[in-house]
Amino acid sequence: MKILVIHGPNLNLLGTREPGIYGAATLVEINLQIAARCAELGLDVATFQSNSEGEIVDAIQTEPFDLLIINPAAYTHTSVAIRDAIAAMGKPAIEVHISNIHTREEFRRHSYTAGVAVGQISGFGVDSYLLAIQAAKKILSQ
Ligand code: DQA
Repeated sequence: MKILVIHGPNLNLLGTREPGIYGAATLVEINLQIAARCAELGLDVATFQSNSEGEIVDAIQTEPFDLLIINPAAYTHTSVAIRDAIAAMGKPAIEVHISNIHTREEFRRHSYTAGVAVGQISGFGVDSYLLAIQAAKKILSQ
C-alpha cells in the first residue's frame, strides 16, 4: 500500500519559519520521521513539497497512491482546485496541520480540503503527520 505525503507552500522553510508556531524540525527531518514510521508499519511512502498550487494538483493527479496525506498549508484556506483534485481521485485523504488552525486567526478556521478528507489532524506538531500515518494504516487495513 502506497501513501503519498504532500507538503504545501512555505513548509520547505520549516525549522526556521516561525518556530514558536511550527517547531524546530526541518522538512528533511520530518520526512525522515515519516519514512521511519511508514517502514515500521509496512507502508510504502513518497513525499513531495511544492509552493505552487498547480504542481500540487499535478502531483495528486499523476503520483500513484492508495491514500493521500496532505498538509495544504495556506492553500487549505483558499484552494478549490486542490479540493477538486482530491475529490477526483476517489482515494482516501487525511488533512494534516502542524499548528491548531482552529485556535489561530479566523481565516485559518475554514478548510476547503477538509470536506473531501476522511478527517483532519491539527495541532500536534510533527506528531500530526505520525498520527495521520497511524490512521492511514487502519484505513488501508479495512
Ligand atoms: C499549516 C497551517 C496553515 O494555516 C498555514 O498557512 C501553514 C501551515 C500548519 O501546518 O499548521 O502554512 O498548514
